[in-house]
Amino acid sequence: MSFLGYTEKISAGDLVIVCRGYERMFAVKIESGAVTQVKGGAVHHDGLIGKTFGSKVYTSNGNNWVIVFHPTPELWTLTLPHRTQIIYTPDASMISLQLDLRPGSKVIESGTGSGGLSHSLARSVAPNGHLYTYEFHDQRAALAREEFRGHGLSEVVTLECRDVCTRGFGLTDTVDAVFLDLPNPWLAVQHAKEAIKVTGGRLCSFSPCIEQVQRTVKELLSSGFTDIDTVECLLRPFDVHPHSLSVPNIGGAESVSRLVRPTLSTQSLYTAQPTTKKIPGHTGFLTFATLPHKQ
Ligand SMILES: C[S@@+](CC[C@H](N)C(=O)[O-])C[C@H]1O[C@@H](n2cnc3c(N)ncnc32)[C@H](O)[C@@H]1O
Repeated sequence: MSFLGYTEKISAGDLVIVCRGYERMFAVKIESGAVTQVKGGAVHHDGLIGKTFGSKVYTSNGNNWVIVFHPTPELWTLTLPHRTQIIYTPDASMISLQLDLRPGSKVIESGTGSGGLSHSLARSVAPNGHLYTYEFHDQRAALAREEFRGHGLSEVVTLECRDVCTRGFGLTDTVDAVFLDLPNPWLAVQHAKEAIKVTGGRLCSFSPCIEQVQRTVKELLSSGFTDIDTVECLLRPFDVHPHSLSVPNIGGAESVSRLVRPTLSTQSLYTAQPTTKKIPGHTGFLTFATLPHKQ
């Protein structure tokens, strides 16, 4: 099992996403002989081994069921153990798009944190690109490194335990893009400039507070970055439903003039309204910039 590819059948040692509905999902490592308790029953891992990902599996008492999915960066974001605040899918997709990430890109990320975004960045640049990710907290770095190894990301991801604000990234003219999720990103802007390829590249900084954005933009401008844009990604989902309505059929002008009694017909009309489900609010501001060339 790897987050970078897809295998059809579940094997011992795989990480799988056990799902009882969108709100009830968790990640489980499959081990021969192990049992996972879910609401209303138990799921025996031996019964999952050899099954196709996406299968619906009944608990041992037959009272309940789960669906077992192949992991993806999106499902991992919803189930990962939080060691820090993480980047969610709407921001992650905007980051990959705006940093112009594609297979073969080289990208820097700091801090690694819970490794949530790392999975998404690694998938964008795989199989021949690379993610260099930096985290100065020893324990977080060790846990993320272990997860990357277990999730089949080792070929594409290098994690270094390092303070990037004081020591930089240790790379010169190497990467296409830099992503910063740091409390003081302005301290890493010069180091990012050093690491970005001589032919230019993109930078993104994620900050929850506008004061952080202001300091970062000031530093970006004085460092020669251009095309500076700050956005906030807010999802506004809509519910679109069909409604059956009785509509009088009054015919054309001729039938009206002859006072034909109108008949009723049933029509299906679609209405669209903002969803009433809980919508995630402000996560942070994303500031994007281009380094056109090095001064
Ligand atoms: C909010 S978390 C990043 C979360 C990550 N984007 C995710 O999706 O899981 C910020 C991380 O940056 C790390 N950090 C803060 N300052 C740092 C620095 N100067 N150098 C390296 N890491 C740093 C923190 O230890 C923390 O783990």
